[in-house]
Amino acid sequence: MRILVTGTSGFIAGHLVRRLHSAGHEVTGLDVAEPRRPVEGWRDVRLDLRDDAGVSRVVAEVKPEVVFHLAAQASVSVSMREPRLDIETNVIASVMLARAAAEAGARRFVFTSSGGAMFGAPEIVPANDDTPVEPRSFYGASKASAEKFLKIVEWETGMTVASVRPGNVYGPYQDPHGEAGVVAIFAERMLRGEPVTIFGTGGDTRDYVYVEDVVEAQVRASEAATGEMCVVGTGLETSTHKIFEVLAKHCAYERAPIMAPPRAGDIPRMAMDTTRAREVWGWTPQVSLDEGIARTVEVFRAAAQK
Ligand SMILES: NC(=O)c1ccc[n+]([C@@H]2O[C@H](COP(=O)([O-])OP(=O)(O)OC[C@H]3O[C@@H](n4cnc5c(N)ncnc54)[C@H](O)[C@@H]3O)[C@@H](O)[C@H]2O)c1
Repeated sequence: MRILVTGTSGFIAGHLVRRLHSAGHEVTGLDVAEPRRPVEGWRDVRLDLRDDAGVSRVVAEVKPEVVFHLAAQASVSVSMREPRLDIETNVIASVMLARAAAEAGARRFVFTSSGGAMFGAPEIVPANDDTPVEPRSFYGASKASAEKFLKIVEWETGMTVASVRPGNVYGPYQDPHGEAGVVAIFAERMLRGEPVTIFGTGGDTRDYVYVEDVVEAQVRASEAATGEMCVVGTGLETSTHKIFEVLAKHCAYERAPIMAPPRAGDIPRMAMDTTRAREVWGWTPQVSLDEGIARTVEVFRAAAQK
């Protein structure tokens, strides 16, 4: 199949593009940034998705049957400082890309939304796909809006749109220097023996889901008969303290964390009930937190030794 994947210089799409390429698909990757890992034989396009004319040109050339759209401004705290960037990148560019894809004949558009950010601070945890959408950050609002706009593109064009709504994704090759991705940030600092800061009380919870499980959900979303929108997580609430503790065990780190005030846009609790993903995609998470963190630390440790 001819497939276009956006955000391939980033974390999750970096895993997805490798999986699709090794399965024999004709893959084109697209990102504004240079890849941090070597490109292994797929076509790799450098483009800012906010460039409408550039996007139309690339999509018309590639003629993808399926588009996996993961490129985004993906940090909650950046969104609180610069909401324009989220609106332009996560909403407008997503809609223009989807329309260009439909025009070029794509049959399926798989969007990556955010189960962790679109429900705000829900009354009932775990949240599920029927939980009211009430984001508390510009990032969450941009993902929720993009889903609405993309459903209009589906209605307008007939190209089916699916949406994968992950919790907090972690795994090897996540950027440890960004503002999001607590597992990567802590892992790198612990392996260097540097101090680690926890924002808030440490009791805030999130649903941490391993990156290969999210990639599996993406693939299933592209193959399902209809365009569904499903949260993807483990159903488990894990506190930041617990993440610190499991990582400290795997990194042999013995220092205590430094505690700092909470950050704008952060929510107190989150976990997700993935019944719909199981029903419509036959998807369930396969990798436990301990196993996922062990795999992640192994790759970070190998990189640190290079
Ligand atoms: N990591 C998580 O915990 C998580 C959770 C839920 C949803 N998501 C979503 O999954 C997707 C991938 O997340 P990630 O963690 O891999 O993020 P990432 O920041 O590692 O990757 C995002 C990529 O998008 C690219 N990008 C940003 N703006 C662009 C633009 N204007 N044009 C072209 N490329 C652009 C960046 O260069 C980057 O390589 C995002 O849509 C994110 O919102 C991530």
